[in-house]
Amino acid sequence: MSRPVGLVVGTGVDGVELLSDARALRITTPFGDVQYLRGTLSGVDTIILKRHGEGHVVPPHLINYRANIMALYMLGAWQVITTSAVGSLQSSIEPGSYALMDDFLDFTKVRAHTFFEAGNVVHTDMTHAYSGTLTHVLAAEMDTLNLPVSTTHGVYVAAEGPRFESPQEVRMYVAMGGSVVGMTGVPEVTLAHEAGLEYQTIAIVTNYAAGMSGAPLTHQEVLDAMARASASIVLLLRQVVPQVAGLPDGRAAAERPLDFLLRS
Ligand code: HPA
Repeated sequence: MSRPVGLVVGTGVDGVELLSDARALRITTPFGDVQYLRGTLSGVDTIILKRHGEGHVVPPHLINYRANIMALYMLGAWQVITTSAVGSLQSSIEPGSYALMDDFLDFTKVRAHTFFEAGNVVHTDMTHAYSGTLTHVLAAEMDTLNLPVSTTHGVYVAAEGPRFESPQEVRMYVAMGGSVVGMTGVPEVTLAHEAGLEYQTIAIVTNYAAGMSGAPLTHQEVLDAMARASASIVLLLRQVVPQVAGLPDGRAAAERPLDFLLRS
């Protein structure tokens, strides 16, 4: 059976322009309602969730990550590609470049971060939280499109936000081996992995992290950098979504790890 491909788009990426015949829909999950777009992208049935909501109104620490991932799970979108604006922690990872992730460091603090609460003691392995298969497809296509790729094995540092990091926090993240820092990657990736979905993010490097360039950071520079990248992101998604649609289902289809939440 063919499944919809799931996209979660972050700051600076407008979902509706990606789809032909986009319909605005809503699904009720055990964690709340989720609005999404469903339509066709390069001939493929595609679901798009806007991470920060319509009009970019939900800050990173208040996003209902569980509802979003549950919605994708319930809609049968086993392959999930997301976009995320990130700051660079390494001089070799230049603003304007694109990065794929291989691992993460979680410094979030106040987020509902798991599907497995009392009564369901499950310890999900995070050795391959980011999908190697999706990395492969995305990296090959970025190469074809000649996009500047800074790393395909990035370590994503998830900061709580919504403030930017302090310079000393940035030095700590660098010492710990972080590649990029953002505010939304965790628990999105960990919940997706708990759900058995294949997940990878296209990280768009918008700036050097706080203290690295000397100048204070602004949200506007993140938005400006995303605006410069948006045409390339659209092109990349148009190319990869049909390839992703043909991939095997991942763990979710066989194991259905979250079905217990849907039994009333
Ligand atoms: N820090 C955290 N999140 C971000 C940054 C940053 O420097 N740039 C874009 N998103």
